[in-house]
Amino acid sequence: MAISRIHPLFLLLLLRAFALLPTQAAARGGHDLPDDGDHGSISRNLLQDKPHITEEMARGYMSNAELEIAVHAFGSRCSNISRIYSIGKSVNDFPLWVIEISDKPRQREAEPAFKFIGNVHGDEPVGREVLMHLANWLCDNYRKDPLATLIVENMHLHILPTMNPDGFTLKWRGNANNIDLNRDFPDQFFSVNNDINYRQPETRAIMNWIKQEHFTASASLHGGALVANYPWDGTKDTGKRYYGCPDDKTFQHMASVYSQSHYNMSLSKEFEGGITNGAFWYPIYGGMQDWNYIHGGCFELTLEISDTKWPKAAELPVIWEHNRMSMLNLLASLIKSGVHGRIFAADTGRPIPGSVTIKGIDSKVRASRTFGDYHRIIVPGEKYDVMASMEGFRPKSTRIVLEQGAVNLDFILDPDGADVLGNDYGCRCGNDMMFHVQEAHIWLYLLILCVLLTLYLVFKRKTASRLLAYRYSPRRPVAV
Ligand SMILES: *[C@@H]1O[C@H](CO)[C@@H](O)[C@H](O)[C@H]1NC(C)=O
Ligand SMILES: *[C@@H]1O[C@H](CO)[C@@H](O)[C@H](O)[C@H]1NC(C)=O
Ligand SMILES: [Zn+2]
Repeated sequence: MAISRIHPLFLLLLLRAFALLPTQAAARGGHDLPDDGDHGSISRNLLQDKPHITEEMARGYMSNAELEIAVHAFGSRCSNISRIYSIGKSVNDFPLWVIEISDKPRQREAEPAFKFIGNVHGDEPVGREVLMHLANWLCDNYRKDPLATLIVENMHLHILPTMNPDGFTLKWRGNANNIDLNRDFPDQFFSVNNDINYRQPETRAIMNWIKQEHFTASASLHGGALVANYPWDGTKDTGKRYYGCPDDKTFQHMASVYSQSHYNMSLSKEFEGGITNGAFWYPIYGGMQDWNYIHGGCFELTLEISDTKWPKAAELPVIWEHNRMSMLNLLASLIKSGVHGRIFAADTGRPIPGSVTIKGIDSKVRASRTFGDYHRIIVPGEKYDVMASMEGFRPKSTRIVLEQGAVNLDFILDPDGADVLGNDYGCRCGNDMMFHVQEAHIWLYLLILCVLLTLYLVFKRKTASRLLAYRYSPRRPVAV
């Protein structure tokens, strides 16, 4: 309580100071090149020995202007399976372009959605190049390669090649304000200031993005190590130790899908199986992946995809090849495994944005507002009690046996009581189309009412005048 009264800027300063403490100085996104003075042991202190990125090193990488052209060129070349949009702008006003890939890119569908984010750290540019390779590969292989076809037709993939275009130009880690974007998200333990207005514009763009799209999972791409990192990223007491989130097994599975499909990530000597829990590696606070899981119900991995942060551009095609099957299999796993379905209201038959939980796992996956569809990633080969719930409805639970493939499971929930019916309910449904249909109905009712009223008035007037006529007619007695 008291904390909220302290000036936010002061708290920001505190947080930054905190981030500068030696133990916290290391940064998710990996470490620097092996330090000679340290006999090859790898320094994780990114604030020291920062490699100077020369013009020579930058050669062969797309500039921001070139990337922008590449994104739009992709949009025209692959126009019927893509949509280009921006989620906001960087500090220096560069648009944060996103490529959406799907066979119906301009429509909402009851399908899982995934986001790939590259170049979170300005000096880790591999992700932005690799993501353009991924987009182009999907476009070139759609309807030729089964995996490409599966992905394009059964999910919506959103690719943000660079989250930090300014940092890239400046050839440093942070954004133009020199803030590390992977420390700028509201944190579960050190929630210094969760007001979205005090975040960096790039962070804010991501935070608003997950309100617009119903993401099932995501991954951000970094450089400086070779490992698939999963939540939690931080511990409550800042201690460095394994600290799993409720979906620890799910995340281990997801991270393993990536590392096992990689050319040699799983052979890592440093990380068993090529995966690691974030806090076990080194705790960080304000990271993007924990925030996604907590606030977006979005299962996010932090992928370190190249040992060197800024390799020579000539190595990029090889790095893409090494990561290609990992990226494709991670995406495909969202379709080919897990529990998927829709939640409906029994009384109206309409989809409802309820949530799905699995017994024994303290986390929720939300169904979309439009279709009531949910997509729950979960380790295959086990039995699960899956429960759907929604305010105003009685929850329902079913036991499923999940083999290797995906399970489809719809829920039809009964309303709790009469108080959930009526207009209030219609709004809660939040389905735009439904709402318009309802609106159309109201207008129709009003029209019919008007017609009836007019007819009634006309009839009444006629009757009245006839009655009057009768009354005053000397020729006919008033009928009683
Ligand atoms: C994309 O365009 C090609 C050529 O016009 C067409 O054959 C194909 O059906 C389109 N694909 C989709 C998903 O609409
Ligand atoms: C993976 O392969 C790359 C390129 O050949 C090599 O530089 C790297 O050391 C290898 N890493 C592991 C963990 O085997
Ligand atoms: Zn990074």
